[in-house]
Amino acid sequence: MGNVETFIFFCFCSWSLAGVFGVEVKSVSVMEGDSVTLNISDTDIQKDDQIMWKFGQILIAQINRKINKSTVHSADGRFRDRLKLDNETGSLNITNIRTTHSGVYNVHSTKSETPLNIFNLTVYARLPVPVISRDCASSSSSYCSLLCSVVNVSDVTLSWYKGNSLLSNISVSDLSISLSLPLEVEYQDNNTYSCVINNPISNQTTHLNISEVCQTYPEHSLIVLISAAAAGFLLIVVAVMIFSTCKTSKKVNQEDTPCPEEILYSETTFNKRKAQKSRDKDEAEVVYAGITVRC
Ligand SMILES: *[C@@H]1O[C@H](CO)[C@@H](O)[C@H](O)[C@H]1NC(C)=O
Ligand SMILES: *[C@@H]1O[C@H](CO)[C@@H](O)[C@H](O)[C@H]1NC(C)=O
Ligand SMILES: *[C@@H]1O[C@H](CO)[C@@H](O)[C@H](O)[C@H]1NC(C)=O
Ligand SMILES: *[C@@H]1O[C@H](CO)[C@@H](O)[C@H](O)[C@H]1NC(C)=O
Ligand SMILES: *[C@@H]1O[C@H](CO)[C@@H](O)[C@H](O)[C@H]1NC(C)=O
Ligand SMILES: *[C@@H]1O[C@H](CO)[C@@H](O)[C@H](O)[C@H]1NC(C)=O
Ligand SMILES: *[C@@H]1O[C@H](CO)[C@@H](O)[C@H](O)[C@H]1NC(C)=O
Ligand SMILES: *[C@@H]1O[C@H](CO)[C@@H](O)[C@H](O)[C@H]1NC(C)=O
Ligand SMILES: *[C@@H]1O[C@H](CO)[C@@H](O)[C@H](O)[C@H]1NC(C)=O
Ligand SMILES: *[C@@H]1O[C@H](CO)[C@@H](O)[C@H](O)[C@H]1NC(C)=O
Repeated sequence: MGNVETFIFFCFCSWSLAGVFGVEVKSVSVMEGDSVTLNISDTDIQKDDQIMWKFGQILIAQINRKINKSTVHSADGRFRDRLKLDNETGSLNITNIRTTHSGVYNVHSTKSETPLNIFNLTVYARLPVPVISRDCASSSSSYCSLLCSVVNVSDVTLSWYKGNSLLSNISVSDLSISLSLPLEVEYQDNNTYSCVINNPISNQTTHLNISEVCQTYPEHSLIVLISAAAAGFLLIVVAVMIFSTCKTSKKVNQEDTPCPEEILYSETTFNKRKAQKSRDKDEAEVVYAGITVRC
């Protein structure tokens, strides 16, 4: 590679680092719904006869001091009633800002074709409050499984904290999606847990109340108990019916029909499977586990 090529390459690098035209790009971050003022820092530019603000390539505001006139443009409605231009300083105030106003804002004057000030405005969406719920499918009698969830977010990190220490986190960049982050706690855990969503400029926190979210008998436990009782009753009825069918058919055919032993056997394995998961030995806890699994 020749020296000239290296030199040109180097120049391009420096240019893009310092903004395309050697002007520093000023990064400005703002929350959706807030207002922001983009200030022209250089007093020379402020005093110029003509000042133009461009959003990308679109002219959005203009001061012409020769004819004592300043105007703002809505850019096809995108900035309607949102722009205020300060006649004196040339500063541009954008109110009730939306994420669609993110982008590059350039200040031009008669002095040169190239922008004199460059702003990179990033508008962050308002953060939803994280919702902590019980993960019914994964809860057991010894651990309460939780999920912290947010819907429709982009450019955020969702984290679980135990006290002040970070336990886990998950991030999403551009796409607007829903996020969930799991956590397992013991029912009698005394620690303070919180779920935090944050973007580079703000955060929202929800504190976990274990006794509230992980209560062993939820508010609708009565309904669950009744359903469980009803289901149990049905099971007995079915068992009795099968048993009697088996008994009757036994007289007819000794080989074909399933017998009470088999029914009992299959029920036992069902209980065993549950018991294995929660490592519960006695009958009462198995029932308890069954209810918590259903939440
Ligand atoms: C512009 O100037 C105003 C007033 O001094 C200040 O409140 C505001 O934060 C400045 N804007 C930026 C983007 O720095
Ligand atoms: C922009 O204008 C609004 C409405 O006049 C005002 O409330 C707000 O303070 C201004 N913003 C700044 C940063 O000066
Ligand atoms: C520009 O016009 C405003 C009223 O619209 C007036 O107050 C101001 O004095 C004028 N400035 C000049 C330089 O003519
Ligand atoms: C700024 O310009 C507008 C529109 O030309 C004018 O109505 C207003 O009076 C001017 N304000 C000042 C302080 O010069
Ligand atoms: C503007 O800022 C965003 C976020 O900080 C960044 O991703 C983007 O590359 C910047 N754009 C320019 C032109 O500097
Ligand atoms: C998600 O966001 C999009 C636009 O950002 C909106 O149309 C949609 O209703 C939102 N969905 C929910 C569930 O908030
Ligand atoms: C997410 O966790 C990783 C380590 O697991 C850490 O390096 C990173 O800083 C965390 N991010 C946030 C936003 O907390
Ligand atoms: C929680 O705190 C109580 C008293 O405040 C204590 O008796 C219990 O052992 C603690 N449990 C755990 C798991 O630390
Ligand atoms: C949340 O934001 C506040 C300031 O608004 C800050 O003091 C706190 O440290 C932030 N918390 C986290 C977990 O980022
Ligand atoms: C947690 O929830 C329980 C039951 O709803 C309530 O009695 C208790 O006051 C809550 N604790 C905190 C710290 O909010």
